Amino acid sequence: MLFGHTKDIYLDLFLAQLFCADRCRRKPIEIDHSKTSEKGVCPMDGNLQNDLSEVVANDKAHVWHHLIQHKMFETADPNIIVEGKGMRVWNQAGKEHLDAVSGGVWTVNVGYGRESIADAVRDQLVKMNFFAGAAGSIPAANFAKRLIEKMPGMSRVYFSNSGSEANEKGFKMIRQIAHKKYGGKKNKILYRERDYHGTTIATLAAGGQHERSAQYGPFPEGFISVPHCLEYREAAQDNLGQGESYGLRAANAIEDIILREGPDTVGGLILEPITAGGGVIVPPEGYWPRVQEICRKYNILLMIDEVVCGLGRTGTWFGYQHYDIQPDIVTMAKGVASGYAAISLTVTTEEVFEQFKDASDHMGYFRDISTFGGCTAGPAAALENMRIIEDENLLENCTARGAQLIANLEALAKKHSIIGDVRGKGLFCGAELVTNRETREPAPEAKVQAVVKDCMAQGVIIGATNRSLPGFNNTLCLSPALICTAEDIDLITDAIDQALSRVFG
Ligand SMILES: Cc1ncc(COP(=O)(O)O)c(C=O)c1O
Repeated sequence: MLFGHTKDIYLDLFLAQLFCADRCRRKPIEIDHSKTSEKGVCPMDGNLQNDLSEVVANDKAHVWHHLIQHKMFETADPNIIVEGKGMRVWNQAGKEHLDAVSGGVWTVNVGYGRESIADAVRDQLVKMNFFAGAAGSIPAANFAKRLIEKMPGMSRVYFSNSGSEANEKGFKMIRQIAHKKYGGKKNKILYRERDYHGTTIATLAAGGQHERSAQYGPFPEGFISVPHCLEYREAAQDNLGQGESYGLRAANAIEDIILREGPDTVGGLILEPITAGGGVIVPPEGYWPRVQEICRKYNILLMIDEVVCGLGRTGTWFGYQHYDIQPDIVTMAKGVASGYAAISLTVTTEEVFEQFKDASDHMGYFRDISTFGGCTAGPAAALENMRIIEDENLLENCTARGAQLIANLEALAKKHSIIGDVRGKGLFCGAELVTNRETREPAPEAKVQAVVKDCMAQGVIIGATNRSLPGFNNTLCLSPALICTAEDIDLITDAIDQALSRVFG
């Protein structure tokens, strides 16, 4: 750990401040709603319940919030988000915010206040809300068909509730195949530095962000790390060899690990198509095809974690579809139903699925269950979410607005030397802050968080990598909903511009 205990608390308090309610009612940023293209959402009516002090008191007394140091809340109020419409949310003080991170964690892809999704979920729930997943349901069957149409080469859909759980299912599939086909030996699962796959003990074991896993060990065995593929930080890796392009070298580093461990012991490789919380890392040219080649060469299942990139975030249905590769297992969650219902999926090829159909072995099928994987609200919401993405051409909007966002960030980099690197694809972008462009010294986390806080005060919610890599929580993260307009993008980067000037001069 880079930070000592005292400093850690300071930083956590600092993070907490971001989520403390701004009690003074600031004037909201001026937005001409006639120019926004938020189809299908009812306009914000401004009719917030007047006195939410009891709600705030209940929250402070009993709610344990995620990922936050609560010491702060002894003297300040937590932020309570009470309403959302389109790109915007309002807190308990009635303050309006433009949300540039889709619900804080790149989730609400189609924006807030979608009545058609709420209607679809309600209609489904009054007809049939739940039955255990050993049986089927109408929305699950229909959504599985629609999803597989978007994923050539894939075939089977396994339903659960969270991204972590979907990844656990994938690990269990890889492990069971190891037992069925390889006498249990080919059970190791490779994961990449800087990637994140969830918060359960096994997914933390497969996580490349050490500030997330610290203090939660011991972890299960058999999860092995491979180097990241962030060219901007290549110098930090001394094991990549020289000569070839960086993309090939970074992929070949995976082969080196496989050879070190023994190919007959490695059953799977899990990767994010574009790393999210580890710094918004778009893999370099040549990386993905070589990764696929290596997996085929050593008979290793390629498992792609689309929890963030899935359902349009990067301008294609799935992030891996930018790279002309064929995964064996794909997981997804967040944007599948844009947060209107909890749903996650582990999608496999027919070849993977077939290996669980050996009726001669009474243990030979996938002996896994997810109780709430049988909830019908998830697939009902997901069907309508997918219809919205298609009918409103949100993939095209994502590509166009994403290009604008990158261009705006690059323009900011010309003005602010603190921006060392701008990265991203579609509406999934990052700006890495460094105090010195030559040495690439990461900007201090407290200052990066001060930028986030300043934007928040301006009424624009942005994100930054946090609790990920010691010393490298220095990348601003942006993932606005796929419905955002050109005006929204300019408002977001204008707020960052002002914040950078105030924090770094
Ligand atoms: C790439 C990735 N995979 C998995 C997860 C875990 O998803 P969940 O929080 O739904 O368990 C996340 C969450 O942020 C993620 O970013």
